[in-house]
Amino acid sequence: MKKYHVNQALKLSLMGALVFSSVSWENATAKSLEKSPKITINGFTFEDLNRNGKLDKYEDYRLPMGDRIDDLISKMTDEEKAAMLMGTGMPGFDGLTPVIGAIEGRVPGAAGGTYKIERLGIPEIIVADGPAGLRIKPIRENNKNTYYCTAFPVGTALASTWNPELIQSVGKAMGNEVKEYGVDVLLAPALNIHRNPLNGRNFEYYSEDPLVSGKIAAAMVNGIQSNGVGTSVKHFAANNQETNRLSINEHITERTMRELYLKGFEITVKESNPWTVMSSYNLINGTYTSARKDLLTNILREEWGFKGIVMTDWFGGYAGFSSLQAGTSNVVAQLEAGNDLLMPGLPAQKTAILENMKNGKLSKAVVNTNIKRILELVFKSPTMAKYKYTDKPNLKGNAEVTRNAAAEGMILLKNNGDLLPYQAKEKLISAFGVTSYDFIAGGTGSGDVNEAYTVSLIEGLEKGGYKLDTELKTLYTPFAAKEKAAELESRKKRGILALPERLPELDLSKDLIAKKASTTELAVITIGRNSGEGGDRTVNNDFNLAADEVSLINNVTEAFHAKGKKVVVILNIGGVIETASWKNKVDAILLSWQPGQEGGNSVADLFSGKVTPSGKLTMTFPVKYEDTPSAKNWLGTPASNPENVTYEEGIYVGYRYFNTFKVKPSFEFGYGLSYTNFEYADLKLSSKTFDGKLTASVTVKNTGKVAGKEIVQLYLSAPHQNIDKPVSELKAFAKTKLLKPGQSETLQLTLLPKDLASFMESRSAWVAEAGNYKVAIGASSLDIKQSTAFSLTKELEVEKVHKSFALTAPVNELKSK
Ligand code: BGC
Repeated sequence: MKKYHVNQALKLSLMGALVFSSVSWENATAKSLEKSPKITINGFTFEDLNRNGKLDKYEDYRLPMGDRIDDLISKMTDEEKAAMLMGTGMPGFDGLTPVIGAIEGRVPGAAGGTYKIERLGIPEIIVADGPAGLRIKPIRENNKNTYYCTAFPVGTALASTWNPELIQSVGKAMGNEVKEYGVDVLLAPALNIHRNPLNGRNFEYYSEDPLVSGKIAAAMVNGIQSNGVGTSVKHFAANNQETNRLSINEHITERTMRELYLKGFEITVKESNPWTVMSSYNLINGTYTSARKDLLTNILREEWGFKGIVMTDWFGGYAGFSSLQAGTSNVVAQLEAGNDLLMPGLPAQKTAILENMKNGKLSKAVVNTNIKRILELVFKSPTMAKYKYTDKPNLKGNAEVTRNAAAEGMILLKNNGDLLPYQAKEKLISAFGVTSYDFIAGGTGSGDVNEAYTVSLIEGLEKGGYKLDTELKTLYTPFAAKEKAAELESRKKRGILALPERLPELDLSKDLIAKKASTTELAVITIGRNSGEGGDRTVNNDFNLAADEVSLINNVTEAFHAKGKKVVVILNIGGVIETASWKNKVDAILLSWQPGQEGGNSVADLFSGKVTPSGKLTMTFPVKYEDTPSAKNWLGTPASNPENVTYEEGIYVGYRYFNTFKVKPSFEFGYGLSYTNFEYADLKLSSKTFDGKLTASVTVKNTGKVAGKEIVQLYLSAPHQNIDKPVSELKAFAKTKLLKPGQSETLQLTLLPKDLASFMESRSAWVAEAGNYKVAIGASSLDIKQSTAFSLTKELEVEKVHKSFALTAPVNELKSK
């Protein structure tokens, strides 16, 4: 018999090839496998090698994955296991690299990777940010190729489409870049609730409402993962402020956790099977989320059926990087809780894991369970399958995807006299505001993307055939460039998580503005805002307009209105700002959000009427910041350096508060205008009594002059004898297809038992009270078009769950009565 010497390299490549072949042979029976054509690798066949006893069980692709993984685990040393439970450091984290001991991985600029064990053929898999597109280094040393990625619209802009189908296609495009640049898991989507408008990372997140967040996130995960790469749904959970985010202790009741801060994650896990979940930085009721077994095991895995791994956020579970270095007291609690992977991984954590394995404080069973899940992830990865990535994703096609998605996520807040679409292309437009010339594609921090270009408002309008005033262009262009360079320089000096600062406005004389009001036809003013990870926004000069912005709006509107001309404001922002004090002065307001790299083109598409606006708000724009229910306890106490924050507003976040307590917003949740009009008719329920499932159908007709899409929202008002409830809550939504003038569509909106239920802490159960339920179909949360009712004859205990989130301090929650 021939003797083969199988060297390690060959064994490794063989294993990759075998795993890869197993993908396409997944459904083959053992019998057909026996008969299947022999796979030849470097001249050896699998059967030859196997017969000679050269393959281990873990390499035998014909065995179930679980058996192969168990075999691998049985061959791993304790050292290897400890290393496998953490990442290999964070090379992109300049300054800390020598301390962490990380080396630049296969994909420069990626946020981290898992440990590889060559002797067992376990490769390193790569994880990279983030929610608006893949974030890697665009330029590599001694390499003339570039590795730019597409900057897609920020999360808030995507959610404003209310269109899961569209978001799935965005996810598919994003995932294409992940796969073709050699990354295995994208650290996205991010779906924390917009609890307060000042959260510096709200732009990455979707909504103040968990249903919208969950549906959009699930679509995103399904889209990204359709490429055969993974996602990391983050930050689990209640990562609602950046100030002291590594140590803030949030006091939240179980009901508020389950109904508000967990609900979106529940929908995502159940509807999209994400490969991974990222635990958050904060503590809930005295314990870090990464060390909470109730959250990561009982709820996530047992109640919701999550099958993937949980990883920590970077250095999570400690008050900071230095405290993690000084002591690793949370390692055992994290691993036991079901937080399988510690990211990005520090040598001190490995030592702690080994010590605790030796002294028995960390059980073998826990270690093996975590490792098993990590290996399942590795086995699924493109890297394990030796996928030959091209480094050439479809950047051109994806630019089209982002342009269209951004246009659909933009919201028309005001349009007096049908000013938009503005079709007088031959007439001159005056573009004011530094942001018109330096459009903001997205926020900073890990939610940033290194894109090749950003189309500014000016470029977009010009490409769309509009004429822009050249004198203003000549003044603004160098000013914007200089201010931007200075801002970037100052940010660089301030360090890795330095926050972006607003560029000042160019001081234009009233005479010049008056001249423009005579010589040009329309004024466009762009107001810009940027924010990012590591800090929260402020009320002055951020939520509220700064003095130079107020005078710009005043001077331009006075001058243009004096000449009978109109003013449009474009809001190129990532989060909510104050609008009530100035919205009546201007004629139209287009909320473009931070729309990704094609932003200017997307605005131009709406400006010209090529696209009819169909985005709606996924959060409330309050009249003043102080109207926000969480404003009273925002950031926590002591104010000088917050340690504890009590969520006294409970479930009354966003419209749940504004509508129940009748506080008038500037623009309400669910609001957005169109260039056309819609009529709602024929609301019908499948039954007048609830029996396990109920469908509401409603017909929407485009009664205007141009084609458009409408977002239809179903709000449910439930009986509240036994539990306090908001006046109504969003329970379903749907978007029409593009309806031509005169065209109608009948939409179906479904209610399931849990949609009727609230969480009753006293019974650890989701309970739907018997009684009368009112169904209101709205074009927004306040603009109700049709309503009807059904009844539930007997109380329903929909689901009984584990008691979780025991309080460590009293939480005196707001009640409506
Ligand atoms: C962020 C995460 C991100 C991680 C890796 C952390 O600072 O909170 O969202 O995925 O860094 O870059």
